[in-house]
Amino acid sequence: QDLAGLRSELGPEPPSFAFAFDIDGVLLHVAKPIPGAPQVLKFLNDHNIPFILLTNGGGKPETERVRDLSERLGVPLSTDNFVQSHTPFRELLEGPDSLRDKTVLVTGSDYEKCRQIFGHYGFNHVVTPADIYAADPTIFPFQAAASYKAPSRPLPKPLFNPATAGVPAPLPTHFKVDAMFVLNDPRDWALDVQIMTDLLLSEGGHPGTYSPRNGDPALPNCGWQEGGQPPLYFSNADLFWSANYPLPRLGQGAFQAALAGLWRRITGGHELRRTCIGKPYGETYRFAERVLASHRHEVLRRMAQGRTGESGQAPRQHEPGAVAPLRTVYMVGDNPESDIAGANGHTSEHGTEWVSVLVRTGVWSEGWHGGEKALRGEFAPRTIADDVVAAVRWALRREG
Ligand code: G3P
Ligand code: MG
Repeated sequence: QDLAGLRSELGPEPPSFAFAFDIDGVLLHVAKPIPGAPQVLKFLNDHNIPFILLTNGGGKPETERVRDLSERLGVPLSTDNFVQSHTPFRELLEGPDSLRDKTVLVTGSDYEKCRQIFGHYGFNHVVTPADIYAADPTIFPFQAAASYKAPSRPLPKPLFNPATAGVPAPLPTHFKVDAMFVLNDPRDWALDVQIMTDLLLSEGGHPGTYSPRNGDPALPNCGWQEGGQPPLYFSNADLFWSANYPLPRLGQGAFQAALAGLWRRITGGHELRRTCIGKPYGETYRFAERVLASHRHEVLRRMAQGRTGESGQAPRQHEPGAVAPLRTVYMVGDNPESDIAGANGHTSEHGTEWVSVLVRTGVWSEGWHGGEKALRGEFAPRTIADDVVAAVRWALRREG
């Protein structure tokens, strides 16, 4: 991966552009770095060109995932320039409808990791499908779910101890769920779908109750506060993603489609009411731009420190030689439906232009799922590059 040529493309001034890199299919195939990815990130770090990692992936606490990524890619990363699919859910802790002290159900690839993630965010009452199953195994009349570990010792108390190590926690009496979250690709679809369907049909989130209003197409969907179904949140809508197999794999969007299809069947045609974030949705891109702007300020402060001794203050806008605002973000992604459409559709609060760059190392290829036809309208990238190195080279030339 020839990066030497990239050096000549750089101007002397601090960059007024930055990068947002998708992970799966751009930098990694699961745990395996895609050729050139480590070198590109090192190059950008060495030349103080800011970037963030913006992934629809999730399922681990940010600190743990960043540590993994730094090791795999050989580049120092921090949570300052890292946005996972569920990271923006932290914002639901604030405001008049805060869920901080409500009871939330979380699911994903590892129930305990999901509980840890939300516990670290500050949600104080986090339950998993395994907790509900452990409280009454008859709720799921098949063999114990794969990720449910039979208690090898008395269940820990109190209920919501995020440090609970790996076994379901007991539920309090009069237990109810106030909101449900899918944090990454569930593994126990059968158990998750059973329990989530129970809650969707319940009176106000009380397992074991039934409210015919919830799915009656003749009635408007009433919120769970009026005894309807608890709100349901998904952290990404990816139908496919790029792993190690030569063809794209089903993602969290497939689980969402399965649950929505089941809900339509159960209710005779009712559309499942849910909120979905992650790429391509504006909320995630607005959140990502805030994270990138803050990280860029830190990078330029360090750069100024290098140039102006101890002050270390990034020049203010009004000071001579002030740093230009962030003018352009190059979004490098492999999925037209999430990375490209999201960047194309994002309206920046600060006039920053997001330029979408599609790479050939992930979900999209000429031979997959519509090929060129899939790249029309909102899915049309500004350019197509063979890989992340070619994408960065194209961007630097464009900035040169
Ligand atoms: O589960 C991860 C997958 O949905 C896609 O992740 O990094 O390509 O946005 P990413
Ligand atoms: Mg991807």
